[in-house]
Order: sequence, then structure tokens, then C-alpha cells
Amino acid sequence: MKITFSTLSQPKSGAIATGVMADRKLLPAGADLDKQTGGALSRAMAASRFTGKKGELLEVLAPPGLPNSRIVLCGLGEPAKLMAMDLENMGGSLLAHLNGVGESEVALMLTKLRGKAVNAAERAARYAYGALLRSYRFDKYRTKEKPEQKPSLSKLDVMVDDPRAARKAFGELQKIAEGVFFTRDLVSEPANAIYPKSLVAEAKKLSRLGVQVKAMGEAQMKRLGMGALLGVGQGSAQESQLLIMEWHGAPKAKGQPVAFVGKGVTFDTGGISIKPAGGMQDMKWDMGGAGVVVGLLRALASRKAKVNAIGICGLVENMPSGTAQRPGDIVASMSGQTIEVLNTDAEGRLVLADALWYTQETYKPKFVIDLATLTGAIIIALGNEHAGLFSNDDKLSQQLSAAGKEVGEPVWRLPLGEGYDKLINTDAADMKNIGNRSAGSITAAQFLQRFIKEGVPWAHLDIAGVTWTSKDKPTVPKGGTAFGVRLLDRLVAEHYEA
Ligand code: BES
Ligand code: MN
Ligand code: ZN
Repeated sequence: MKITFSTLSQPKSGAIATGVMADRKLLPAGADLDKQTGGALSRAMAASRFTGKKGELLEVLAPPGLPNSRIVLCGLGEPAKLMAMDLENMGGSLLAHLNGVGESEVALMLTKLRGKAVNAAERAARYAYGALLRSYRFDKYRTKEKPEQKPSLSKLDVMVDDPRAARKAFGELQKIAEGVFFTRDLVSEPANAIYPKSLVAEAKKLSRLGVQVKAMGEAQMKRLGMGALLGVGQGSAQESQLLIMEWHGAPKAKGQPVAFVGKGVTFDTGGISIKPAGGMQDMKWDMGGAGVVVGLLRALASRKAKVNAIGICGLVENMPSGTAQRPGDIVASMSGQTIEVLNTDAEGRLVLADALWYTQETYKPKFVIDLATLTGAIIIALGNEHAGLFSNDDKLSQQLSAAGKEVGEPVWRLPLGEGYDKLINTDAADMKNIGNRSAGSITAAQFLQRFIKEGVPWAHLDIAGVTWTSKDKPTVPKGGTAFGVRLLDRLVAEHYEA
């Protein structure tokens, strides 16, 4: 799909999209079209339930006399209340609608909209960004698709007073979208395509953007004492990897970095504590946290973010086999702490324990944020609407909550505390890798916190409920969401760039 920006003029073909404010009030371009067509738009609105509320769409087949195919009215509600995200959602919903009806081109005539929150060029860019985000498809394995099954929209033009400024704003957003798409690709790929070494190979593509990418194999991790991570991967024929990405974008290239750590279980069978067969295919996206960290670094590097950022991913495949770890095995982590592995399916925390420790030891970061599809229990608690947030730092939590709301990737903070921490004590070792049945997401977070050094601000995002969606959303088609890329890009842009 080609996305362009141009000044206002009446398009000679294809669809026209224009905005309607609350109470069916048309924007000037729409009012003009209404006049030209003898009131066809007003009549269509009056004959429907469409009132111009935010998110509503009404399609009117173009009345005689117009060279266009159709006019789509997009509800804007109260313009003064429109946030960037609302405009993105509108762009995304419009794109999905037009692809659904087989339209091939559209011009957005939404100039002269007076909103306070976002200026005109930025607004135009946001419609286009929303449409772009929604246009993502993972179709590389579909070899027999007929043309009518493919998206029909090939051209989207946004009309705006200052196309140059809009193009520039869109260019920046496009770089974030590249990161989002990279993550969605990684998450969508099956586990026979994405395993620890192939994920490293994908991440190495970031080096042409100036990211330094390296990886450690099992021998090197063994020397560092990463027994927790290595235990998870020991049943797999695929060699475990620690992926290390560095982006030095701050004016002081050696200044204290921010760090992101991802759980990268490229397939989680559960190991010897094997999962039931039904739904196990979902565990191809158990590397969602790592996928986000890679996509985030791509976005930061593409837009040359003025920050030093580290991305570390523990990459393993959790398989049952003759060499797999057994329930009851005791492993020693890089931190020196020992862990009794009572359930081999609680593997994400084992991988993160060593990845988190390595990150703090090596980089002394300003903060560490880890992302992990860590627990089924977070889906019980929060469903698919919020990621779980756990943190030892109120300021970082608050920044994450605010950024999440702004980009539409909301997080909800859950508690940590001594009472929960006790639940992972055991007689045989320093800790066990599961609690009892209660508060499963919290005990998982408590486990991680035992690998956070005193004084290091840390946040853990449990993204098990939000990494994959079975429903289309305005800017997120069904499938891998890349939840976290936009959130953390925004966090960095707002608070951590020089
Ligand atoms: N990868 C799973 C968590 C998960 C579940 C992610 C559903 C996405 C969707 C994780 O490794 C796991 O298996 N967790 C166990 C922990 C339990 C054994 C303490 C769980 O949540 O059941
Ligand atoms: Mn598991
Ligand atoms: Zn897992």
C-alpha cells in the first residue's frame, strides 16, 4: 500500500473518507460533498444510527454525479478530545473497512478539523500510521491465495494543508512501525523457523542500523555459570543463545544505558512437566518478550533515538528428551543462588534469572525492564486487555502506565511483597521455581526480583495475555501484536532521550 500526503483537492476516482463530529456535523470537505450531491450524506446519516461518535463508520455509495466509488464518513466525536491514538484507530478501522469492501484507493479529506491535542500535520500522519499498523499481514506461507483474498487497497492519500510537515511526521512513525512489524514477524514464525540461533541471525540484521549485535553460545554461558538458563535448554537439539544488542545513540556513547530483557523461549512444550496437546502450538510465541526487545531496538536505532539502550534476550527451546532437566533438579544460577526446579514448565523465570543478572553485572543500567510471556495466571487476572506490571520503583511504574495509556498498550500494576516472596522458599535450595496455586503471576515476579540487585530500578511486564490476539483491533490485526514496542519506544522518547 502506497501512502501519500497532498493538499486538498477533490479526488477523481476511488473512495473519499471524511470526518463527522458529534451530532452529525460534517467537516467542511464533507459539507461540500453533501451540497454537491443534493444532501446525500445528510440523508444517509439521518437514515442510519451513525451520529459521528468516535470510532463509528458509515459508508455511502457515491451518488450519481461524482467520479468516486464511495464516501466513508468517519465519526470523530468531540474534536477537542481527540488523542493521537484515536486518530490512529480511525486510520486502522478505515483501512480494514475498505479492504473488506474491495476498494483500491482512498483519499482522506479531514482538513480543517480543529482539535487541540494534536496539530494538523501530526494528525494527518497519525491516520496514515494507524492504517499502516493495521495493514500488517503475515502471509509468507500462503501460496494459494486468490487476488480477491488479498487486501484490495493499494493507495491511501491523506489531504493536509502542509503535506511536507505531515510526510516528515509520518516518516518518524514509520520507523516505529518497522520495529512493530519486525516483532510481529518474529512472533508469527513457527518454531521450526525461529529457534535460538535463527532468532540471533534475524537480530543481526539490525547491525546495518548501527546496532551492535552479538550472541553467546552454551560453552560461554557455562563459563559464566548460567545454570538456570542452560538447564531449560538442555533437552533441546537447538543450542541455547544469549542475544546481546547495544544501541549507542546518546551524545555520550558510554553514558549509563537503559536495559530491556526478553524471555525468548522459542518453543515451550513444558519440558518433562509437559503441557497438554490442545493449544500447545501457541507456545511458538513464547519468545514474545524477546521479539519485542528486538523490535524495540530496531525502532530506536531506525529513528536514531538519543539514548544508550541494551537489549538482552535469553533464547532457549524447552523440550522433553533424554537430556532434559527433571522435576527436582537443582541448578545454580549466575548470581550464585540455587534453584530447585519443581516444574520444568515454569522455565521463563529460569531463563530470565540469568539474563537479568548478566545485564546488571555487565552494564550497570539506569533501569531494567523485562518482558515475558511468563504466566497463564496473568491471563486469568487481566485477560487480554492489560499487561501485568510488577516493579520495585514507583516512578518507573508511573511512567510505564502513562506511556501505555497514550499508545494503547495499557499495563496494570500488581503488588509485590514479602508474604508472596516466602511462597518460593524451599528446604532443598535457595528457592523453588513455583509457588502454590495462588497468585501465580506474583510469585513468578517475586522469583525474578530475587535476581535484581539492591537499588536497581526494575519493572517486569508479564505479556502472556497481550502478545497474541485472536480478534482484530483497530491498529492490530489478528495474530502477533508486538505489544510493548510502541509502549517502550514512547517511554524512552518521553523520559530517557538526551
Ligand atoms: N509460557 C508459559 C506461560 C503462558 C501461558 C504464556 C499461556 C502464554 C499463554 C509459561 O512458561 C508457563 O508454562 N507457565 C506456567 C507456570 C506454572 C507451571 C507455575 C503456567 O502459567 O501455567
Ligand atoms: Mn512454561
Ligand atoms: Zn514459557
